This record gives sequence, structure tokens and C-alpha cells, in this order.
Amino acid sequence: MIRVLAIETSCDETAVAVVENGTKVVSNVISSQIDLHKKFGGVVPEIASRMHTEQMNLCIRQALDEMTLDDIDVIGVTYGPGLVGALLVGVMAAKAIAFAKNIPLVGVNHIKGHIAANYIEHPQLKPPFLCLVVSGGHTHLVNVKDYTEYEIVGRTKDDAVGEAYDKVARTLGLKYPGGPKIDELAKVGDKNSIDFPRAMLDGGYDFSFSGVKSSVLNYVNGCNMKQQPLNAANVAASFQQAVVDVLTYKTINYATANNIKNIALAGGVACNSGLRQALMAATTAAGINLYYPQPLYCTDNAVMIGVAAYYEYLAGSRADMHLNAVANLAM
Ligand code: KG4
Ligand code: ZN
Repeated sequence: MIRVLAIETSCDETAVAVVENGTKVVSNVISSQIDLHKKFGGVVPEIASRMHTEQMNLCIRQALDEMTLDDIDVIGVTYGPGLVGALLVGVMAAKAIAFAKNIPLVGVNHIKGHIAANYIEHPQLKPPFLCLVVSGGHTHLVNVKDYTEYEIVGRTKDDAVGEAYDKVARTLGLKYPGGPKIDELAKVGDKNSIDFPRAMLDGGYDFSFSGVKSSVLNYVNGCNMKQQPLNAANVAASFQQAVVDVLTYKTINYATANNIKNIALAGGVACNSGLRQALMAATTAAGINLYYPQPLYCTDNAVMIGVAAYYEYLAGSRADMHLNAVANLAM
């Protein structure tokens, strides 16, 4: 049995988990800083780093519960991509433990962690499969060839989907993080009421969300200038539909063109009910299986890092005391 202690501090959650054999969740501690960042409308990097520093040891203690570090076989830690000052706190904590207790250390890519979140509740899901990664910082269409082998087949050329959601939410006066609030508001709006643009980029597999974001901002500003009433629910529903249409179309197109039978979703926006429904309908129609983690494992957590670290460890990956934070770490 391989028991991983996993640490995740890439953004605004201090997260620590213990995971056995890449499947059994022994503990899952998440200390969210959302309330602290809310009043600034987004994550303030220095506040994030300071809060990680305060919370780190408490979270590790809590995640170990009755266990001690002697019960841990591997330390897994996110070393990028993310906020460099935030990542450094987790990396230093992981290195200190690995050094003091002589435990193997594995550095994990945060995006690969999001993808690995799918293995927690779906043991039947095995590579190869196609994964749509939609988070606050990233939008990637990834060919998961093996547990540690990935090929990016499409990516955003500008904003990430989550970023667009958060900016649109802000324009509508909703507090950070706005994604879940747009999701809720969209349920009571008319998704066909406003025709926001869908950037198809000549049918390729890359994405662009700055156009739809700007279009929403212009629409809202236009209403305000003309002193016309604004139906926020209609804006949310129409924006969400524009985004979901593009994500669904490109993902299904890639899968059918390449005879892929399994698709997974990953990242915070994978919680989105509109996206889940649209992809469920499209995959069912195309005879494709769709997988996604429960919301707790879609947004940032350390369990997913523990799962990814387990597979990296099995593949022979080992970090040494030179492990450093890499803000723009590539897949
Ligand atoms: O994966 P994540 O927790 O952090 C990053 O790695 O970026 O994703 C956070 C993003 C935020 O932009 C948040 O607004 C968005 O995921 N999000 C949602 C929903 N839940 C979280 N976006 C749309 N609908 C949701 N239900
Ligand atoms: Zn994330």
C-alpha cells in the first residue's frame, strides 16, 4: 500500500490530504480564503501567501489526524502552475517534511491533478480518454494517453473560461468567485434572449473567450448608458449558453473525429450545471461515456494532487531538494 500526503497551495485554498493507492481518500482538509479575497473582487497574491503560511501546519496536522508522518510513504506537492508566492509555501512545507523524515518527494502539476480527480470516484475510467480542463486559470482540451502522459490538443488563446465567468459576474455586481453565482442565476434566465458571440476559430480545437466576455461588458454598459433595465438572469443564461456551446461543440467534435469513447471534465468550471447537462446530452447522443468529479473534487483540493502524485511515483518520478515553484509550469 502506498499512502501519499498531498499538499496544494497554488491559489487561494490551503489544502492537505492523505490518499491511499490513488483511490482511497483518508482525509481531505481545505482551508478556503475566499472570504478574505472577496472584498477585493479577486485573489490578492500576498494575502494568499500569508494565509497559506498561517494555515499550512494546522492543515497538515488535521489531515494526519490519528496518523503520524511515519505512516506516510510519499509526499506529493503542487509546484505549478499558480501564484508563485502561494506555491512556495506548499513546496517548502513538503520539502521540509521530506527532508526531515527522509520520505520520497513528488512534484505535481496542478492541471494534471485536476485531471486525476476523475479517478477518485470512477475506478473504471482508465486512459486513454479525452479531458476538457476548465478552471479559473486554464482551458485545455487534453488527450490523456496514459496516467502520466498527456497531449494538449486545444487551448485558450486568451482568457480561461473561469476567468470569463468571474469577470462577467463582477460586471453584474456579483461577488468573487462569480462562476457558481452565474450558474445559479442562469437557471432562471432565458438562454436565447441575447445573442453573444461563439468563437469557433475556423473549426480548430483552440478556444477564445475574450470576445464573449467583452460583448457581455458592452451589453451591460450599453444598458446602463441608455438607462434601460438590465435583466441579469438573461445575461447570465445567454453568456453561459454561448460558452457551453463552444466547449461542447469542440470537445464532441474532437472525440468523434478521433473515435474517442470516454470524455472527462476537470477544473472548477466542471461544476457548472449547464456545461454538465449539455455535454451529457451530446455524449449520450454520440454513444460516448462522460465522467466528472463531484464538485468538491472539481475545485482546488489536495486529494487530486495525492492521486496524481501516486501515479507519478509509480512511474518513477522523484523530486529532490532543488524542487522550486514554477508559476507558468507547462503540462
Ligand atoms: O479549478 P479551480 O478551483 O481553480 C483554478 O485552478 O483556477 O477553478 C476556479 C474557477 C473560478 O473561476 C470559479 O468561478 C469557477 O471555477 N467555477 C464555476 C463554477 N464553480 C466554480 N464556474 C461556473 N460554474 C460553476 N458552477
Ligand atoms: Zn485549480
